[in-house]
Amino acid sequence: MKKSKETINNTINNTINNTISNTSNECEKENREIIVRDHAKDFLLDILPKDRGILKELRDYGEEHHVPIVEEEVAALIKVLTRTSGAKNVLEIGTAIGYSGCIFLEAMGEGGKLTTIERNEEMLRLAGENFRKAGRENSVRILPGDALEILHYLKGDYDLIFLDGAKGHYREMLDLTISLLKPGGLLISDNILFKGMVTGEHPVKRRKRTIVNRMRDYLKYICDHPLLDTSIIPIGDGVALSYRKNEVEQKGLSERIEKKEDSE
Ligand SMILES: C[S@@+](CC[C@H](N)C(=O)[O-])C[C@H]1O[C@@H](n2cnc3c(N)ncnc32)[C@H](O)[C@@H]1O
Repeated sequence: MKKSKETINNTINNTINNTISNTSNECEKENREIIVRDHAKDFLLDILPKDRGILKELRDYGEEHHVPIVEEEVAALIKVLTRTSGAKNVLEIGTAIGYSGCIFLEAMGEGGKLTTIERNEEMLRLAGENFRKAGRENSVRILPGDALEILHYLKGDYDLIFLDGAKGHYREMLDLTISLLKPGGLLISDNILFKGMVTGEHPVKRRKRTIVNRMRDYLKYICDHPLLDTSIIPIGDGVALSYRKNEVEQKGLSERIEKKEDSE
C-alpha cells in the first residue's frame, strides 16, 4: 500500500526523534558513568593519606608549574608495590622533578638504590636539588640524556622498572629494558590509558593519534609477551603491572602438565 506524504514525514520525524533521544540517553549514561567515576576518585583521594614534607612540596610544585608527576592514587600504589615486592634496586625512565623517585626511595628505605633517566636539563637540575633536599642524593644515580640511547649501554639487574618517559616510545623502551629486569621483578608502566583516549572513552585528539595507537600496540605487546604476566589497572591515567617470569614460569602450567602426561 502506498504511504501518504504525511505518513512518510511522520515516520522520518519519529526516527529522528528516537535517534536524538537514544543519543541523549547514551550521553546521559556516559555522563553518569564519568560522574560516578569522578565521585569514586574524589572519595578515594579524600581517604588516602596526604603527601607531607618534601613530597607535598614536590606535588605542589608540579601542580603550580604543570610538571606531569604521578597521580596521588598511583603514588600510593607504587609505594605499596615497592614495599611488598621488597625491591631494593629500581630503574626509572622519566625523572622529572624527582617526585616518583622520592616515593621509590622512601618505600625502599635505607639500602635502596634508584637509577633514574631524564633528558630535560631543567628537570635534571630540579631533581638533583630535590633528592638532596630529601637527604637521599647518595642513593640515587641520575643518568642525563635520552633513555632510548642510554638504555643501549645500561647494565644492571633491577627488581623494579618504572616506565614514565615519552608515551609513544614505551615499546622500544621495554625491548631495551626487559633484559635488565630480574626474573620475579616488576615492570610498572604509567599513563597507559592516556586520558581515556586509549580505550576510546574520550575522543582521540588528532595530534595524539600516533601516541594513542602506539600505546594500544604497547598494551597488546605486554599482554602477549611470553616473559610477562600483565594486569591493567584503570586508576590515575592507567597503570600496567607486569611480572617478569622466570624460566619455569615461562613454560606455563599447561605445558608442564602436558609434558608430565606424555612421560607417564
Ligand atoms: C611524566 S614525566 C615523569 C614524572 C615522574 N616520573 C614523576 O612521577 O615524578 C616524564 C619525564 O620523562 C622525560 N622523558 C621523556 N622522554 C624521555 C626520554 N626518551 N629519555 C629521557 N627522559 C625522557 C620528560 O622530560 C619528563 O620529565
